[in-house]
Amino acid sequence: MQINDLPVHDIPALSGNNAPVQQEDTFENMTVMGQVPTDLNGLYVRNGPNAYYPPEWRYHAYDGDGMLHAVRFQNGRVSYRNRWVQTSALQQEQSAGHSLWKGLKEPWNKDRPDEPLKNTANTDVKYHAGRLISMWYRSGMPYAVDPETLETLGQADHEGALSRISAHSRPDEHTGELLFFDYDLKPPYMTYGVIGPDRQLRHKIEVPLGGPSLPHDMAVTEHYTILHDFPLKPDPEALAAGRYKVRFFEDQPSRFGVVPRYGQANEIRWFTAKPTYMLHVVNAWEDGDEVVMLGTPYRMHHDDQGRPDARRLERTIHLRQRDFLLYEWRFNLKTGQTHERVIDDVLNTEFPVINSLYQGRKNQFSYHVLFPQGGREEPRFPGLVKYDLETGGYIAFSAGPQYFYNEPGFAPRDNPQSEDDGYLVSFVWNPKDQRSEIQIFDCKDARLAQGPVARVLLPRRVPHGFHATFVSQQTMDRWK
Ligand SMILES: [Fe+2]
Repeated sequence: MQINDLPVHDIPALSGNNAPVQQEDTFENMTVMGQVPTDLNGLYVRNGPNAYYPPEWRYHAYDGDGMLHAVRFQNGRVSYRNRWVQTSALQQEQSAGHSLWKGLKEPWNKDRPDEPLKNTANTDVKYHAGRLISMWYRSGMPYAVDPETLETLGQADHEGALSRISAHSRPDEHTGELLFFDYDLKPPYMTYGVIGPDRQLRHKIEVPLGGPSLPHDMAVTEHYTILHDFPLKPDPEALAAGRYKVRFFEDQPSRFGVVPRYGQANEIRWFTAKPTYMLHVVNAWEDGDEVVMLGTPYRMHHDDQGRPDARRLERTIHLRQRDFLLYEWRFNLKTGQTHERVIDDVLNTEFPVINSLYQGRKNQFSYHVLFPQGGREEPRFPGLVKYDLETGGYIAFSAGPQYFYNEPGFAPRDNPQSEDDGYLVSFVWNPKDQRSEIQIFDCKDARLAQGPVARVLLPRRVPHGFHATFVSQQTMDRWK
């Protein structure tokens, strides 16, 4: 039985363009409106949930099996393909012929203590040492995928050295390393490590925390890694009673652990900052005695006494509502002090992306998905934004409030002359024509505002998804 045969239209997470697709396809010679630039070369690949079997439980938008959708650009030619990530759990279900795991909205599988929730590898995808690595936000075994064919090559356990990493582990294009962390409900509550360009584990430490935490991302500079410990945590009382509930402890600070890339646990320097919660980092770099980190934390609302409204933040996160700032923290390694400031509180944006060659180095531009103010309704992702991080100024493009963009990829032009000399690439749901498109924007200066330079019309839908990456042809050639 296929999911499209089921009356799932009343489940928002499975209806409209959230509905999974059942086909693994390859499309070439697609209709193009405008001109695909010939100096755009590489691979845009996006991960996302795509349930293989119809759910037999209350379905959560994060439950679906990971599916990769990839667009290959070669000298003006464009091709598309999609494949499921063949996780161990999906293969077990395919052998059984039906779903075996329940989802986030159900009590966890007690008879599967090794994997109470299904590791779907559905969250982010990055390129490391010649392979795509597909990862899951709750920390699980990563999967290696062939960038040309999207065939799953197997578990990326790095010869048994790794059993789990979180979705936002970060490759360093300059060194070929993959920096990773994971988090867990039981000790060690967090680990951090480095895999070399030879795919060998080079470094791994346990990060001392007082209990389970919910870090979603981390930041890297040339010499340091910044680990996150926000006061949003699994509620210890609920955990003791065998339940899982997330609580915001508004009296506790946000904590950031700055550690040399190959530092030991006792070399982590913890900086404190105002209580908040953040999913995604924009970038980080070193500036004299300071380590600077930019990101998109939730906008904190306060009560009459100026205390953070913890229940409101919990509700916002639980309902997957969107209400974000662009923000900067500066950690002074000499004084131990943190300075923090809002860069922009006008727009509501998230899914920050940069020119990946600038990761860890001071950069000027980032590219985000634009949301409606407040963002308290069903998700709408109607546009893309280019920020000037020095001023908080921005340029935005939206084709209209019902269009739905995805996390874009920044594609540097061949032989780029500046940080923003390149293109933004994104899958877009076009509500007017009821179809999916690949849109390509010129990013230089203010050209994003002029709209896409090319639109590639896809013969079938690409469901909304999570994170994406762009791998330049130059990077892929280096690993051939
Ligand atoms: Fe994420």
